[in-house]
Amino acid sequence: MQPTQHISSPLNLSSEQNEQIAMAVRILHKGGTVAFPTETVYGLGADVTSLVAINKIYNIKQRPIDHPLIVHIGNISHLQFWAQNIPESAWKLARHFWPGPLTLILPRSRHIPDSVTGGQDTVGLRIPAHPVAQALLNALGPEKALAAPSANRFGRISPTTAAHVYEELGTEVDMILDGGACEVGLESTIISFCDQSPKILRPGGIALSALESILNAPVILAHNQNQTVRTPGSLPAHYAPTTPLKLCPANQIGQSALAFAAQGLKILVITWSDIGKTEIPHDSIRHFSMPGDPILYGQQLYAKLRQFDHEAFDYMLIETPPDHPSWMAITDRLQRASYHPTYNNRNEYNDNEHK
Ligand code: TXA
Ligand code: MG
Repeated sequence: MQPTQHISSPLNLSSEQNEQIAMAVRILHKGGTVAFPTETVYGLGADVTSLVAINKIYNIKQRPIDHPLIVHIGNISHLQFWAQNIPESAWKLARHFWPGPLTLILPRSRHIPDSVTGGQDTVGLRIPAHPVAQALLNALGPEKALAAPSANRFGRISPTTAAHVYEELGTEVDMILDGGACEVGLESTIISFCDQSPKILRPGGIALSALESILNAPVILAHNQNQTVRTPGSLPAHYAPTTPLKLCPANQIGQSALAFAAQGLKILVITWSDIGKTEIPHDSIRHFSMPGDPILYGQQLYAKLRQFDHEAFDYMLIETPPDHPSWMAITDRLQRASYHPTYNNRNEYNDNEHK
């Protein structure tokens, strides 16, 4: 297929947008790839049933083939087509939170090919809330679904605008649908129903407390590193900009920045609190204030990391987020973004964080 690289403008389901969606469906039916907006981040989509298209996703993302893809469906009534042995607690969450930023890991049905799950007998499923994603899924038809990882190269920052997708994947993707900036800005919460009790594999757009209140039971947070299942978002190094990133408590961030600057390094300090906002006067230190509200912080985080990654800083020092459940997904992403075993060799600044 000839690449039909195309970025359409964000529209409110106008006729132009419907044309874009019809074009996307034609590409998907032919085994092509289409990047599309969801409320969390942009996905790189392919027809679940097309082996050729699924292989393209792994190639474009440079992702190991044993890392499973999330399958996006259009309607809750399709859930039992793609999964089986669905426990009542999973139905409860699906009914309450879909469409929305929640992925359920369930035993897969025979309709899910091996290529999508990396050979595992489970599948991740969600209904995205973005109107463009929904229109695309509806236009694809009831027995179709979109396998879609985040539309970034393996290990990099997820894209939250169509321009970010283009920056990440360029003309390797056949089409990019533009639905504006993603509302949530962080990936979905992933909850597995494949053990005795539900387990969070990745904190995300839905808070743990919200899940617990619907299930009326405690939900366990999985210790990711020891999992046998391959989940890239659960590797210690992930969601990372190319600029080394370190988390620093508010009362140390100024001092750390000055110590780096004294070595001739160009430093970006990113804070969220008032205490962190204290001016740090130095020519090679720049300060940026993020919102103190976790929803707003989450919306902007990836876009800001991406923007600052282009500005040739030697280090980004990020104020440690509050130790509060509403910041869990942000802390998780920042810890993974800051994990890099080689960074500590670059200069004197050396500690045991995130090893
Ligand atoms: O918000 C999101 O979830 C976005 C949008 C596009 O929907 N998607 C996304 O996909 O973040 P991806 O592939 O970048 O991350 C999905 C995570 C990966 O860590 C993957 O390994 C895990 O979900 N996953 C998928 N299927 C799984 C399964 N059967 N068992 C365990 N983990 C699974
Ligand atoms: Mg991803």
